[in-house]
Amino acid sequence: MKTIVAYRSKTGYTKKYAQWIADELHCDIKEDPSYADIEGYDVIIYGGGIYAGGINGMKLITGNYSRLRGKKIALFAVGALDGSNKVYESLWNKTLNDEQQKAVGHFYFRGGFDYDRIKGADKIMISLLRSSMQKKKNPTEGQKALLSAFETADHTDRKNIAPLIEHVKGL
Ligand SMILES: Cc1cc2nc3c(=O)[nH]c(=O)nc-3n(C[C@H](O)[C@H](O)[C@H](O)COP(=O)(O)O)c2cc1C
Repeated sequence: MKTIVAYRSKTGYTKKYAQWIADELHCDIKEDPSYADIEGYDVIIYGGGIYAGGINGMKLITGNYSRLRGKKIALFAVGALDGSNKVYESLWNKTLNDEQQKAVGHFYFRGGFDYDRIKGADKIMISLLRSSMQKKKNPTEGQKALLSAFETADHTDRKNIAPLIEHVKGL
């Protein structure tokens, strides 16, 4: 089956995972894809970083979902938080409807955070978030996790892709 890994990555973490996946599956890879780049494939794997609770570029898949009918799709999201965080359940509930969640394999990989590579509005948003969290006298566990996730660090690990690889090989 003709397979592609397509992705969007602002600071390089999703890119790293996409390259590992393409390497493992010996398939094509495309950064910043358009619909024309993916329509000729039988298996489409799409990944994007998480920004303020949404997945970068995911509209490519959800916005074209009916046109992609008949194709096999697997998705991955890359965020700064520990993958055990409950946040990801609501992320996928927000991203995919019930039918899509059943039909489409969806995975979370822990990326990293690189303050120096964040630009423009994203940088302003993070600075505001950090200062509002730091001012909290009794932060919740969730707020503490968020604050520590937004420290420069690389948590990527090639081993994390194993469930996605297994899923795609079984399609
Ligand atoms: C403005 C902004 C908002 C973010 N929001 C979230 C978020 O809601 N959840 C999360 O897990 N990570 C969040 N992150 C962290 C990114 O998802 C993380 O750095 C990811 O590894 C970026 O992947 P990329 O470099 O491939 O785009 C945010 C980062 C920025 C700069």
